[in-house]
Amino acid sequence: KARVLSGIQPTADSFHLGNYLGAVRQWVDLQDEHEAFYFIADLHAITVEQDAKLLRKRTRVSVAQLLALGLDPERATVFVQSQVPEHAELGWVLQCITGFGEAGRMTQFKDKSAKQEMVSVGLFTYPILQAADILLYRPQYVPVGEDQRQHLELTRDLAQRFNSRFGKTFQPPEPFILKGTAKIFDLQEPGAKMSKSASTPSGIIELLDDPKVSAKKIRSAVTDTGREVVYDPEGKPGVSNLLTIYSALTGRTVDDLQAAFEGKGYGDLKKELGEVVSDFASPVRARVQAYLDDPAELDKVLARGAERAREVAAGTLDRVYDRVGFLRRK
Ligand code: TYM
Repeated sequence: KARVLSGIQPTADSFHLGNYLGAVRQWVDLQDEHEAFYFIADLHAITVEQDAKLLRKRTRVSVAQLLALGLDPERATVFVQSQVPEHAELGWVLQCITGFGEAGRMTQFKDKSAKQEMVSVGLFTYPILQAADILLYRPQYVPVGEDQRQHLELTRDLAQRFNSRFGKTFQPPEPFILKGTAKIFDLQEPGAKMSKSASTPSGIIELLDDPKVSAKKIRSAVTDTGREVVYDPEGKPGVSNLLTIYSALTGRTVDDLQAAFEGKGYGDLKKELGEVVSDFASPVRARVQAYLDDPAELDKVLARGAERAREVAAGTLDRVYDRVGFLRRK
């Protein structure tokens, strides 16, 4: 079985639809035919300031969401990054083969650091830790949204560099990015991606929002001039984004939706989409709550996940330390 790996940060009270459609949905699909590793990237979360209590809570809610969205801990290894120390350890080795200028070219760092008062060194080296996350497990595919593409390229570069310096150790992984949903846009700013750190909460649909709140956000989504419901990402980015979400959540094609909305207006589209989102999210919310009500079960899933992850991660790190020339404990 080919191996897949991916991660998500616990930096918000809820995942948003971009996280789900861009990434987590593929994680669920891939767990059947692949050996899958999925984790909550709490080490990444602290690259910007976090409140300890809130981070702990959000980490649990994140795990609960992954399970509620369909990850099956029997089939997929689900774990918390900080419980597998090899991530930080390999991260250090990779930092030492990354050029300063190379790290400085990461566009997500430029965007994120512009929003911070204090820019930590950790935020700067973040993509290198991400490369370590990936390479530890030697996956073939990494299912992510479009915004992670550059980090995947760095990961491939570092894998090749390590191999050529120290002998073949890593296999450069392929990004697994689904075209249709690789970038879900902000409802208020259809030119920008839907993001946990969006300028206004009204632009993002959170899975754990009250469905009434989501419906209202959708009703007030920025749409475009004209009145026909047509898919035209250049000319009608707002409407096209709503169609993308509708199509992804229902499995109906965009063509089919365009035909169904012929003669109707944006208001009809928004109203229906509010219902579609509610139908999708309501059972997810209920399942999340059930997982949160049983913290012992959640802890058990994570303990097993960390153990399975460490078996793989420790093997890779051991080989890396040996190749680098570290004296191994006998
Ligand atoms: P994060 O937590 O920002 O996002 C989690 C996943 O959701 C995707 N995503 C989107 N997809 C489509 N449209 C959007 N608007 C949208 N917003 C977010 C992201 O592309 C991502 O796949 N650095 C990563 C976490 C990470 C990681 C890793 C991922 C750490 N180590 C190793 C893969 C492999 C991040 O911050 O994702």
